[in-house]
Amino acid sequence: MSAASVLREQILSLVRQYHEAQFPVRPFAPGHDLAHYAGRVFDAEELCHLVDSSLDFFLTANRYAERFEAEFSDYLGLSDALLVNSGSSANLVAVTSLTSPKLGERRLKPGDEVLTVAAGFPTTLAPILQNSLVPVFVDVNLGDYTADPNRLADAIGPKTRAIVMAHTLGVPFDLDAVGELAKKHDLWLIEDNCDALGSRYRDRLTGTFGHLGTMSFYPAHHITMGEGGCVVTNDERLARIARSFRDWGRDCYCAGGESNTCGTRFSQQFGTLPHGFDHKYVYSHVGYNLKVTDMQAAIGCAQLQKLDTFIARRRANFDWLLNALRPYEDRLLLPRATPHSAPSWFGFAITVRDGAGFTRAELVRFLEANRIETRSLFAGNLLRHPAFTGIPHRVVGGLANTDTVMHQTFFVGVYPGLDRARLEHMASAFARFMRGERAGGL
Ligand SMILES: Cc1ncc(COP(=O)(O)O)c(C=O)c1O
Repeated sequence: MSAASVLREQILSLVRQYHEAQFPVRPFAPGHDLAHYAGRVFDAEELCHLVDSSLDFFLTANRYAERFEAEFSDYLGLSDALLVNSGSSANLVAVTSLTSPKLGERRLKPGDEVLTVAAGFPTTLAPILQNSLVPVFVDVNLGDYTADPNRLADAIGPKTRAIVMAHTLGVPFDLDAVGELAKKHDLWLIEDNCDALGSRYRDRLTGTFGHLGTMSFYPAHHITMGEGGCVVTNDERLARIARSFRDWGRDCYCAGGESNTCGTRFSQQFGTLPHGFDHKYVYSHVGYNLKVTDMQAAIGCAQLQKLDTFIARRRANFDWLLNALRPYEDRLLLPRATPHSAPSWFGFAITVRDGAGFTRAELVRFLEANRIETRSLFAGNLLRHPAFTGIPHRVVGGLANTDTVMHQTFFVGVYPGLDRARLEHMASAFARFMRGERAGGL
């Protein structure tokens, strides 16, 4: 072994000791410690991967990024997984890819319509607008918070070319109905799978149904790299286009360190460039640089080993909470899966029913006072936010439920960091609130 290898082993062994000293498992102190809605769950492996990668000092995407992309595409059973620096970037790359001139007549053009929902996260919608496409909004169901499939059919018009929607909080939208619509009307389908890694529909993983799927690896999500995301597809042509938009818009698709993968680096003709202009510096798209570092990918490799355990823990926590909160179903609309789906839950969504005798604000205030984190269902109704009030769009069939989500819905966590003590603390706070206890001013 070289001196450097021996030192690396010693460093990694110290990192394991450091992990034990710095991040010991401490018993939960109810009312003092936060019951988070989400968070990083990791052990010494993630720290070792991070340090190992930093010692390579390659910095940009390298061996860990390659490994993650290979293992993740295998996990999903798809041809390609392209790492990017966030779920938002994944959505930007996915939507923008569909505008590529390389798609000929099928490409999305300014003014084309895209079906989506307004009850969601802003960066599912933003790339539609950033590409001068026109979103068409339909309402969501209360309880599963996914698009009402009947409304989607009504919303299709002569300019509709794509569907871009999220599996909200891990709940798969009706992929039978959406798939049929996409086929019948020749629509592109992008699944924003940022909140749903591990969810299944008819036993197949979500994110693998659409032409493109997207993932987020922000700490609140099923696995994390700190910041990170992924675009996945089973279409090699789309993968090459997506890679181009991610990598400055370049035409070349050589992996890092390679120089002449196509074998025609100096013998092609592009536009009015001189014949044989270096393919490495030919640009076929107006692109971005949205790549990850190898340190992020290294953390992701360690997290991927834990994914199945994380999914199982999320499901078990969800079931436990559902059982604990069933007695209050007359006042709280509890979350439910869509037919044929097995969600890998992101959170536990609750809508305070009309006539419950209390408001969402009172319940949320009480939970927060008891150190239980809550979140709104992201933007509630995106169309009511300053950024989106003036956008060109259509609404089909009204957004009454979306407004209900904005006023009456919130969610608490189910993430693997919630152990039985934390869940019991959450259940006890709900029970006390239902018996009439209230929080002081917050
Ligand atoms: C549905 C959905 N899409 C996209 C994103 C954006 O992911 P990121 O925070 O990694 O940019 C999020 C973030 O939580 C999300 O919930």
